[in-house]
Amino acid sequence: MIEMKNSKPVLGVETSCDETGVALLRWDPENPGRGLLSHALFSQIALHAEYGGVVPELASRDHVRKLLPLVREALKSAGLTPADLGGVAYTAGPGLVGALLVGASAARAMAWALGVPAIGVHHMEGHLLAPLLEDDPPEPPFVALLVSGGHSMLVEVKAIGEYRILGDTLDDAAGEAFDKTAKLMGLPYPGGPALAKLAEQGTLGKFRFSRPMVDRPGLDFSFSGLKTQVLLAWQASDKSEQTRADIARGFEEAIVDTLAIKCRRALEATGAKRLVIAGGVGANKRLREQLAQAGQADGFRVYFPRLAFCTDNGAMIALAGAIRLASGQHQDETIQVHPRWNLESLPAA
Ligand code: KG4
Ligand code: ZN
Repeated sequence: MIEMKNSKPVLGVETSCDETGVALLRWDPENPGRGLLSHALFSQIALHAEYGGVVPELASRDHVRKLLPLVREALKSAGLTPADLGGVAYTAGPGLVGALLVGASAARAMAWALGVPAIGVHHMEGHLLAPLLEDDPPEPPFVALLVSGGHSMLVEVKAIGEYRILGDTLDDAAGEAFDKTAKLMGLPYPGGPALAKLAEQGTLGKFRFSRPMVDRPGLDFSFSGLKTQVLLAWQASDKSEQTRADIARGFEEAIVDTLAIKCRRALEATGAKRLVIAGGVGANKRLREQLAQAGQADGFRVYFPRLAFCTDNGAMIALAGAIRLASGQHQDETIQVHPRWNLESLPAA
């Protein structure tokens, strides 16, 4: 078995969707953020914008083009060479199969060539551990709200690797709801940040949409009905810029309120006192403000990754991979990806 030298840096590779991310991290159990040596990212947003969404084949081809130059860049800014690496971590799923295969093949090949272990990382585990990269990181047990383009989940984190899904989306994920709603009001891709920016100009209360599924017990989410409500409101409106902003404000408030209500319920149900917010929608300013306020009122502490580590990045993959490599886990030489992958099926770290 090839053992990882704990003191040596791990290369993290993220290619599950439309961001190529790489990072170098030396595992430091005392302070994981201090171990981050460098990170580099290339976002494909401009490439997909003219199609209004991610085109999987274009995504894969662009990961092929960008990955190795980014690895070189990250090594250079950390002052390292490939021979300094102690292991390689890559996103093995969930995600777009072609995109995942680019990162997995390159990472597996680098690990093989360097004679170091490789580990396939669950993308959502990466997201939920991202707040550990900040100062004063959260310690399990905690509840994590994972809100990205593909997922809306509440997860009970008993320990790293021990996850219980408390609630999931029954249809659209939170980020998907932002993106689709933005698109139907004519905003550019990716809709989430564009809609959030527009909402800042809107007046609260001009449009009020329902908070889906909060009137019944349980922690699941459903956002597709909200999108239809917005469509009807938009079609019946004067379609002015101000109205568009007012609708955006009403929509954002409905999503943020719904997420906050469910977070409070999940904390009550588990008795946890710490809440971790992660994933692209975790970059949303209103969500961050509202949950921080809820924490002050209810006596729980809220942890967020910095904005750059809310959306997809290589640092979170380097971190999750380094933790697993340090505990002796690694993959054999087969290149395997899991476009669908249940978070609860992961082994303890
Ligand atoms: O985690 P992520 O980068 O990729 C996935 O794993 O899906 O999340 C991307 C999602 C997109 O749906 C994007 O619109 C949304 O996060 N997003 C936002 C904001 N920034 C990114 N949604 C609302 N407000 C934002 N500020
Ligand atoms: Zn993601």
